[in-house]
Amino acid sequence: MMYGQAERLLELKRLEVEESRNGEKKIFAFTSGKGGTGKTFLSLNIAYALSQKKKILFIDLDQNLSNSNIMINEAPSKTLYSFFHGNNLLQELITETYPGLHFIFGDSGKLGYLKRKNSSISQLFNQMRELEAIYDFIFLDTGSGAGEEIFSVLLNADANIIVTTTEPTAIMDAYVMLKLLNGSGFNGDKAIIINKCIDAVDGKSAFNNLQLAANHFLNEKLNLLGTIDFDHAVSASIIAQELIVKREPSISISRQITELSRRIFEFADVLHDD
Ligand SMILES: Nc1ncnc2c1ncn2[C@@H]1O[C@H](COP(=O)(O)OP(=O)(O)OP(=O)(O)O)[C@@H](O)[C@H]1O
Ligand SMILES: [Mg+2]
Repeated sequence: MMYGQAERLLELKRLEVEESRNGEKKIFAFTSGKGGTGKTFLSLNIAYALSQKKKILFIDLDQNLSNSNIMINEAPSKTLYSFFHGNNLLQELITETYPGLHFIFGDSGKLGYLKRKNSSISQLFNQMRELEAIYDFIFLDTGSGAGEEIFSVLLNADANIIVTTTEPTAIMDAYVMLKLLNGSGFNGDKAIIINKCIDAVDGKSAFNNLQLAANHFLNEKLNLLGTIDFDHAVSASIIAQELIVKREPSISISRQITELSRRIFEFADVLHDD
């Protein structure tokens, strides 16, 4: 195929970005299938815990139903809307909220929100790949469901973290996400978090059910990042609009989240070795 000048430049740019990436895998998407499993709460708190040692960019990709800014009591002046409308580059939308944790916020209930084309998702990832030079991790919070938009994000991420709960409905949806990811040819990494558990035994038993199904039907061995207990302090922290690991770092759930963030770190290290 003959390359035009523009294509050649783009190809060079792509190779340059690829080279600087050094094969590292940094872009982690949080997904669940089922709504309300704790994706936003956990991804934010894990990001904050990690940010004590690493530089994190958190991007709220829950299209037009964004919650992350509410959970940390931020009123974003710039959002992804202007990226998708071609008015801003991704890097122009970064808010440096905490020293090690920066945000690109999404939108809530904007009328006339673009029905995005797949090309805008690939542009989003191209620009994200350039930001990888500055950050150790880029976290993507996605909405619930298994729609085309969400999948175009998940398939482009380096790793998908599936947040589920112990309820059979949530476990079933987590299994469906695994199956759909496999069926769509996703060859990145996957890991599981079981949230809202009674205790570690409860969480482990839910994970075992998911593992049995994945093993039997998908011939897949799953990676459990951790289990997180149900705690009424979570709701209180969301009402206070303050991250729980920041507000109450020594309570049990914050310690579980911090421990899990270390596991993510190890998981990423394993990914980097690939
Ligand atoms: N470990 C936990 N203990 C108690 N409540 C929790 C826990 N984790 C999350 N929650 C509660 O679950 C609810 C949903 O959390 P969150 O908004 O993070 O879920 P989500 O998966 O992002 O939802 P959506 O699919 O709508 O984006 C919140 O009301 C939160 O208080
Ligand atoms: Mg959410």
